[in-house]
Amino acid sequence: MTEVGIDAIEIRTGNLRLDLPNTFAPQKGEDPEKYTKGLGLTGSSFPDSYEDIVTMAANASHRLMERKGLEPEDIGRIDVATESAFDNSKPVSTYVAGCLEQVYEGDFHHANKGERKFACIAGTQSLDDAYNWIRAGRNRGKAAIVIATDTALYARDDPGEATQGAGAVAMLIDEDPDLVSLSVEQGYGSADETDFLKPNQQFPSVDGKRSVQVYLARMREALEDYKSVAGAIHPDDFAYGPFHTPFPGMVRKAAVLAYRNLIRDTDIADVLAEEIGEQPRRDDFADDDAFFDALTEYTDALSGTERYQDWYGATIEPTLGIAREVGNWYTGSVHVARISALRHAAANDIDLAGQRLLVGSYGSGAQAEIHTETVQENWREEIEALNVDEQLDRRYELTFSEYEEIHDAHNHEMDTEVEELTTPESEFVFDGWGRMGERK
Ligand code: CAA
Repeated sequence: MTEVGIDAIEIRTGNLRLDLPNTFAPQKGEDPEKYTKGLGLTGSSFPDSYEDIVTMAANASHRLMERKGLEPEDIGRIDVATESAFDNSKPVSTYVAGCLEQVYEGDFHHANKGERKFACIAGTQSLDDAYNWIRAGRNRGKAAIVIATDTALYARDDPGEATQGAGAVAMLIDEDPDLVSLSVEQGYGSADETDFLKPNQQFPSVDGKRSVQVYLARMREALEDYKSVAGAIHPDDFAYGPFHTPFPGMVRKAAVLAYRNLIRDTDIADVLAEEIGEQPRRDDFADDDAFFDALTEYTDALSGTERYQDWYGATIEPTLGIAREVGNWYTGSVHVARISALRHAAANDIDLAGQRLLVGSYGSGAQAEIHTETVQENWREEIEALNVDEQLDRRYELTFSEYEEIHDAHNHEMDTEVEELTTPESEFVFDGWGRMGERK
């Protein structure tokens, strides 16, 4: 069976940066370490006044097409995943195609376009859709572009404000991919939840503490479901575990849960039993409360073991590098985690070809998905072609009052106009409703 997966990838960050420990924390009267150590964030990317989900998506896609030498006729499908949509009818992908048609001679009239929404997991769902479209043979030899784009803004003074971010990830999905191939097997955990909602409102209503618990519960189910279709998996089977990263502290919690789940009934559990005891099993307890107390105690002990810390340091920590600097990109976040991991391997001269990734996606509302990916021969060339550092380094550093003004400018309910803080350079810019995405 021909492999299908991600052939190439590009990102586009918002052009502004908010420093959390130095600019945000003093204004909020918080200890900077709440952000750096607790949430695990140093900065967040923010959109300048001329940027939005369309321009970031178009800029990422344009760079992807240029780098891969693609013309519109090579692309048979454009899907956008976002939870920041501004139009309830027309998909964002039509706006993106409109932008791209300004710079190519051909057009995308032949391409199937759509928009996916299921909070942050929609990026992975769009990837799955493109995979299925190619696997079904409906692609007529063409590739798909899947874009995850969000301006992940919260109302000011909402606890989520510290985890904001803005950026787009564009992925080229094709047969015989150069970066990673996707597993046929997937595991799901899905339930009707109300932890994070945006019913006809721009900024989310979120029960932050509960959302953390829902993320963990659905991820546990997805892991179980994955194992039920793919068979037992061992933590050492994977070079990296990119997970949805609303903030790195969330992944710290998810990682130990995943590890606990993966080591059950393995040689590792036997070795650790001498150090921290056996992993509790529900049948050994009279009620759920007693079982969960014992499980929490075991998980805390597990997270302190050298064995777990080594696994975390090698497999999870490298996935968090970019997230620490950009915050939450919602639909793009798990795809940013994959890029972080592959960049870490390239920088450390690790030979990844043929190795596997354990990918954990999550969307509030709520659903988690586990699938695995196999790194392809040409991965290094692909990942080294990204200009992530250049994009992050050239962001404009916001003062707190500039941050407040730009937040207001992006608030759909306010009529605030602000001067651009950066100068667009050969990029698509937001130029007013109805005239979106002109290239400057
Ligand atoms: N030094 C070190 N650590 C500190 C500290 C200090 N001085 N002060 C606080 N901390 C730690 C806390 O102990 C806590 O860590 P633990 O959770 O491990 O205990 C961490 O910093 C955060 O502190 P708080 O819990 O007090 O922070 P908060 O209540 O202000 O906000 C939050 C946390 C509720 C997650 C909030 O950021 C939020 O609402 N975020 C948006 C929702 C979200 O991202 N949820 C994640 C799951 S849902 C999802 O993933 C979908 C999505 O993308 C939104």
